[in-house]
Amino acid sequence: MNAGITGVGRYLPENVVTNLDLEKKMDTSDEWIRSRTGIEERRIANDDMDTSHLAYRAAAEAIKNAGISAEELDLILVATVTPDQPFPTVSCMLQEQLGAKKAAAMDLSAACAGFMYGMVTAKQFIEAGTYKYVLIVGVEKLSKITDWNDRNTAVLFGDGAGAVVMGPVSDGKGVLSFELGSDGTGGKYLYQDDYIVMNGREVFKFAVRQMGESSINVLEKAGLSKEDVDFLIPHQANIRIMESARQRLELPIEKMSKTVHKYGNTSAASIPISLFEELEAGKIKDGDVVVMVGFGGGLTWGAIAMRWGK
Ligand code: UT7
Repeated sequence: MNAGITGVGRYLPENVVTNLDLEKKMDTSDEWIRSRTGIEERRIANDDMDTSHLAYRAAAEAIKNAGISAEELDLILVATVTPDQPFPTVSCMLQEQLGAKKAAAMDLSAACAGFMYGMVTAKQFIEAGTYKYVLIVGVEKLSKITDWNDRNTAVLFGDGAGAVVMGPVSDGKGVLSFELGSDGTGGKYLYQDDYIVMNGREVFKFAVRQMGESSINVLEKAGLSKEDVDFLIPHQANIRIMESARQRLELPIEKMSKTVHKYGNTSAASIPISLFEELEAGKIKDGDVVVMVGFGGGLTWGAIAMRWGK
């Protein structure tokens, strides 16, 4: 049995904060942010909208798009580092709000690689035949752990949610291979201490190396080569990091998803948000080989090669 994606959803708060807005608040410039990161604007949720609210909207859309009812879900996994509170988890809050009566629920924490960890966890249950439908949500309200006085980090992040339903798909479709990894020795480069603290240069070096390597590794594991890739969905942290992965795969620019200019770095949400938008734009078609790859605090990383379709 193969596990694949059978439905997608996403939600972004309406409030847009542009680089020009940030220029007014701190010692930065639109030119610096654009040229160093590719970010032009980001969405910031209002105070009355917490992580679970963002998650619910994306989840409900993914369930509808999968053509199932919430009662059919066996498991809810929420990848986030910004839950409403430590417990009850966002996944349990969703279980109630969605009416997913039979679903088990847990949050998992692997920072920006969290969505990759969630998909791989779901795949194990589905391919073992234990569970049929798993909802995976990548969601962050990073604005609540952003130090708005620290220009090194404040310009980078945004809020948002992306969700998928995974379930059994036909032979040859779905997840073909994956890689997950972690390196706790790099924990000191990106962590939360009230607010996000980051050594940007160290994270950058790690990310450039890891994004390319993991992408190549999942292709090899799937018995594929660079030429087979139809679409790359990298974690949307910085256009320069994304470009390095694209170049490693020797892909033309139109085969890489880019949403970082609109939404900034939404951590665990960035890959499913981008997937949703590429599908909506008709850029990913049945049978396409799609590589998703992410990295984040921990340090953590994860990549998946999949063949699109049910
Ligand atoms: O999901 C994972 C999350 N983290 C990441 O993906 C971060 C990875 N790292 C990066 O994306 C980049 O390292 C940054 C975008 C964070 C920084 O870019 P950089 O090219 O590595 O710049 P830098 O850290 O080397 O800083 C260059 C200069 C510094 O000034 P000095 O010391 O050279 O005088 C910074 O103080 O840019 C300054 N700077 C800024 N200037 C204007 C740092 N932030 C800003 C800012 N506006 N917002």
